[in-house]
Amino acid sequence: MKNKHRKVVITGITGVLGQALGKRFHQEGASVIGVSRSNQFEAPWLSQLLTMDQDSSADVDRILDLDPDVIILNAGQIEKEIGDHGEPLPQHVASINRINYQWPCDVAMGSMNRSWTHPLDIIAIGSIADCCPSSFGPVYHSSKIALHYFWTGAGPIFHAGSRQQIRLRLYRPGAIKSDLAWAPVNRLIEGGKGHQMRKKRVAAAPSGEQVAEHFHRWFLNPNAWVGGWGEPISFKSLRMIFGCFPNLFYKMQCWAWKKQSRFSQ
Ligand SMILES: NC(=O)c1ccc[n+]([C@@H]2O[C@H](COP(=O)([O-])OP(=O)(O)OC[C@H]3O[C@@H](n4cnc5c(N)ncnc54)[C@H](OP(=O)(O)O)[C@@H]3O)[C@@H](O)[C@H]2O)c1
Repeated sequence: MKNKHRKVVITGITGVLGQALGKRFHQEGASVIGVSRSNQFEAPWLSQLLTMDQDSSADVDRILDLDPDVIILNAGQIEKEIGDHGEPLPQHVASINRINYQWPCDVAMGSMNRSWTHPLDIIAIGSIADCCPSSFGPVYHSSKIALHYFWTGAGPIFHAGSRQQIRLRLYRPGAIKSDLAWAPVNRLIEGGKGHQMRKKRVAAAPSGEQVAEHFHRWFLNPNAWVGGWGEPISFKSLRMIFGCFPNLFYKMQCWAWKKQSRFSQ
């Protein structure tokens, strides 16, 4: 590390996990620079706020010009609005793909255009939703799956190509107590089995602070490339079925949509 104090940039700083991470890194003595689309956010633990849409190479440069030690790409969007039949809407697909997938990739690729004289950790916040596709969150799942694939596929190239200075690392939270944890319910029958399962998962979800503490412990382990908060066995099983039996998995989604979606009634 170049300085005693880490310089940590966190996108989505106004959100539940962004704030908890900001506080946690401030606590260890880091200088925390937050990124938001708004210029209204203030916090005692925040050294600086960068206001930007996070959609251009100029935005990437503004972050990299800070010469950070750590960039946490935490900003993320869910499908809050859907079509009359539950279908994804074009403007949401574009915006979710940009912030959840394209923008993290742009930051990573931008970092390769510079030479780094100190380690740079670029940590993407994924999701255990990347385990498999889902009719109940098709765009969110796809964007997080793509992020996971890019990070694991391109990460080793970036690491070797930067003489081991750039490390693309991925942290996959499960549900966190927040609005976003409710992401998949807008396509479910209210009070139905799927809805009840989600309710239970959200009720048992850890707080942003708990996840930030877990993240921080994971972050300090130099051998940890991918980490996350407990993926349930049901998610692991779904991942296996999707990977090994894609046609069966598709049929399972058709069945689940028929049984649990409020649009198929
Ligand atoms: N909460 C969960 O249950 C859960 C589970 C798994 C993974 N995650 C992941 O964890 C991360 C943080 O989640 P969270 O619960 O803290 O969410 P959150 O409270 O909704 O915060 C997300 C932040 O991202 C920024 N953002 C949203 N849409 C954006 C867009 N289109 N362009 C730029 N910035 C945008 C917003 O910041 P500004 O409005 O200030 O720009 C927002 O405060 C996300 O990547 C999420 O996918 C969350």
